[in-house]
Amino acid sequence: MLNMKFNVKYFLFLSTLLFISCDDTITSEDINNIVMPDSNVSYAQHIAPVFEIKCVLCHRDERMEGGVNLSSYTNVVADPRIVFRGSDSTSVLVWTIEKLPPYAPMPPSEWLIRNHIDGIRTWIREGAENN
Ligand code: HEC
Repeated sequence: MLNMKFNVKYFLFLSTLLFISCDDTITSEDINNIVMPDSNVSYAQHIAPVFEIKCVLCHRDERMEGGVNLSSYTNVVADPRIVFRGSDSTSVLVWTIEKLPPYAPMPPSEWLIRNHIDGIRTWIREGAENN
């Protein structure tokens, strides 16, 4: 009986550990550690976490500000006007994050570091692949 109780506790303990280690929630701190390369930018590794932290609050299924949804790869590339695959300079998304008029910057104004802006531009220029 004693042994049984011990096992249950042990099981609960292990489950908790497993639960904690499976928690893959991304935090703002994690994205500060993302350094986007000059080429071969990856959607999964570089782009998605940045969108998740910086953009999805206002650009998701339930709240699509400006008609833009950045919550999944399919949504990100759905409108060629927003992400023109292969051409960063003609993508509205780039005009927005570069604060090029007439695309008003969205609050807060300092949300993307230069490396992340460049990485997003490279990813679009490389074809905006689901890589
Ligand atoms: C606090 C809310 C908020 C966040 C966070 C936010 N946006 Fe927006 N975004 C808006 C609003 C509001 C609009 C609509 C602006 C308008 O129509 O005047 C918009 C519009 C846009 C548009 C469409 C612009 C156009 O002219 O069609 C793009 C692209 C965009 N956002 C990209 C982003 C990206 C990329 C991020 C993350 C780096 C982001 N947004 C984060 C609120 C937000």
